[in-house]
Amino acid sequence: MTKAKRILVTGGAGFIGSHIVDALLAAGHQVVVLDNLTTGKRQAVNHSATFIEGDVRRPEDLQPIFDHGLDAVFHIAGQASIRLSFTDPAADLGVNTLGTVNILQQCIAHRVPRLLFASSMTVYGNTEINPIPETAPVNPVSNYAVTKYAAERYVHIAAARADLGFDFGVTSFRMFNVYGERQSLTNAYQGVFAIFLGNLLRGEPINIHSDGEQSRDFVHVSDVVRAWLLALDQPASHGQVINLGTGQGVSVNQLCDLVLASAGKTRANHPVIYHPAQPGDMRRSTADVSKARTILGWEPQVRFEDGMAATIRWAQEISKTQDS
Ligand SMILES: NC(=O)c1ccc[n+]([C@@H]2O[C@H](COP(=O)([O-])OP(=O)(O)OC[C@H]3O[C@@H](n4cnc5c(N)ncnc54)[C@H](O)[C@@H]3O)[C@@H](O)[C@H]2O)c1
Repeated sequence: MTKAKRILVTGGAGFIGSHIVDALLAAGHQVVVLDNLTTGKRQAVNHSATFIEGDVRRPEDLQPIFDHGLDAVFHIAGQASIRLSFTDPAADLGVNTLGTVNILQQCIAHRVPRLLFASSMTVYGNTEINPIPETAPVNPVSNYAVTKYAAERYVHIAAARADLGFDFGVTSFRMFNVYGERQSLTNAYQGVFAIFLGNLLRGEPINIHSDGEQSRDFVHVSDVVRAWLLALDQPASHGQVINLGTGQGVSVNQLCDLVLASAGKTRANHPVIYHPAQPGDMRRSTADVSKARTILGWEPQVRFEDGMAATIRWAQEISKTQDS
């Protein structure tokens, strides 16, 4: 096993972050979580991690953690809703871009050798190229994608600075549609699969924007977590931007029908309502994951049908016992 590290996970109370925290602890690392609990939940944070309630927009919340010494930072905290990036662009910019700049400044001041960043496939925007390799031109079509792309560039420009005086290994993951256990079933602003599932379980109509023929690449959270952990100790990933998806496209209409079928339902006996496209919607996006394969030896392992079934079982279970 590699040497245990002291690692800060921002956003470690959220969906993806909490799974990464569990995996880092299981691998023997020491984990500090910083999260302001806007969408994250305190109870999602593993008891073996140190939890600090704080905000990436506030350098004074970050500094004491960095003063204590860190071997790596997993910067996952973010405003993850495309819709909210239009209703409150300043907040989106503050969390996603300024928050990342603050993390970077601390990493540089404290010579933290490793930073992994949660970027997004939305940076590609609408493209004719599918599956999309990392070399495809970026063309953000949402405010969210702009702030994520800006943050990603800040990260890689900082790491390439000749005047840093230390080796700063950074990696950005352009994650496609991550789904799985612990994704919020009550947050109507992010995560189309979990939104549909929550609607179904509460007996609410399913709302589809546009004609539903737009496709998404759904990657299970366990596959995503594995890639992040592989990258931690893989120097070949330093300075790299890496897609995480499956390469398989599922249309929103197909997704809706699969979710309904899990409860033995169809459109004939469950309301499905179509609405105009939302700002920032992308038409098709599937990942070319050759780079993750080459650099990390990573392959998505969870078939969508299996991951979906497991997530549905989890959602049914928790909806019996609590409000998720
Ligand atoms: N879920 C996806 O499909 C997906 C795809 C690509 C990128 N991402 C990015 O991955 C990250 C995690 O996404 P997620 O799906 O787990 O969402 P999430 O909302 O569950 O997690 C985000 C976490 O960040 C925390 N947070 C938000 N603002 C903060 C702030 N100012 N200071 C400290 N903590 C803050 C939230 O409380 C939450 O715990 C986000 O940055 C998101 O943009 C997600």
